[in-house]
Amino acid sequence: MGGGLSGHRLAAAVSAAGGLGTIGILPPEELRREIDAARALSSGPLAVNLLLPFARPAHFEAAAQADVVVTFWGEPERRVDGVWMHQCGSVAEARAARAAGADAIIAQGVEAGGHVRGSLPALELLAQVREALGDDCPVLSAGGVADGSDAATRLAAGADAVVCGTRFLLSEESAAHPLYKARLLGARETILTQLFGLGWPAQHRVVANEATRRWLAGDARGPSWLRAVQRASAPVLARTPIALQMRLAATQAPGRPLFGPAAATAGGPESLVEAGPLYAGTCVERIAEVRPAAELVRALASPSEHGPGGVA
Ligand SMILES: Cc1cc2nc3c(=O)[nH]c(=O)nc-3n(C[C@H](O)[C@H](O)[C@H](O)COP(=O)(O)O)c2cc1C
Repeated sequence: MGGGLSGHRLAAAVSAAGGLGTIGILPPEELRREIDAARALSSGPLAVNLLLPFARPAHFEAAAQADVVVTFWGEPERRVDGVWMHQCGSVAEARAARAAGADAIIAQGVEAGGHVRGSLPALELLAQVREALGDDCPVLSAGGVADGSDAATRLAAGADAVVCGTRFLLSEESAAHPLYKARLLGARETILTQLFGLGWPAQHRVVANEATRRWLAGDARGPSWLRAVQRASAPVLARTPIALQMRLAATQAPGRPLFGPAAATAGGPESLVEAGPLYAGTCVERIAEVRPAAELVRALASPSEHGPGGVA
């Protein structure tokens, strides 16, 4: 989870508990600091996730200090010597990533929170990717996994592991703004939209806030003129450094639909709770509590842990 949502605290807590903790994309020098800080807290394996529309050579150099580099959203290409995974939304993309030398594929279902690459339910995509790539390619399943029962179902369906975003966004260690977490705990549905696509015109899954209520009445994707503006400005805006994008995000207001992808983080502008994306997957409706990440890892590894109360 990029933009500071998943930093060293969350990644280290997950790694120390036996998972593969992941630091999301940040400016390269911050990534290095976050990797060092996570290493100081955990000797477990550590991943860095890079979003290809924004990743430059310096990001890959910094990310190479982690044990695993995960990439998303773009032409899959091997950019590091170490272990490389690519998150995919279709069989065609999974084949391309494997052909490019990916060591493992993450198959992301449409249930996922954040940016959503594909259109198939996770179990369907998992079956298709597994069949296309054969048994010797590690395949991880993402989208809609919130408890041990979900994870067991994916493993039984052929996944080698599961990837979770939303469940860990609602952990004590995630850096999501406390009000963002509170909104998610009360959420009963999600919206697949393009509203927060300035600089990155791509579909993403969120829960409602003032911005979505104002601008998505006619079309869940967002007004067509706005999507046209996003597409036209993307080539320039995508080259804007992440740090600058974050500063611009602080000026967003619900009534002015120039919404970028930055989400509300603890210590960041609270205005993003109403004027920014409240990313969450469909499983948010089954999550009732913020819990320590280590407890979540243990619960995910335990097939009998499920229910409307989350993974308690
Ligand atoms: C808040 C949030 C931020 C995310 N940011 C990223 C990201 O920066 N890079 C990425 O590859 N995936 C990102 N994702 C998607 C996850 O990798 C994963 O596909 C998704 O969380 C799985 O679905 P779930 O949310 O139902 O667990 C994000 C997801 C969420 C919820």
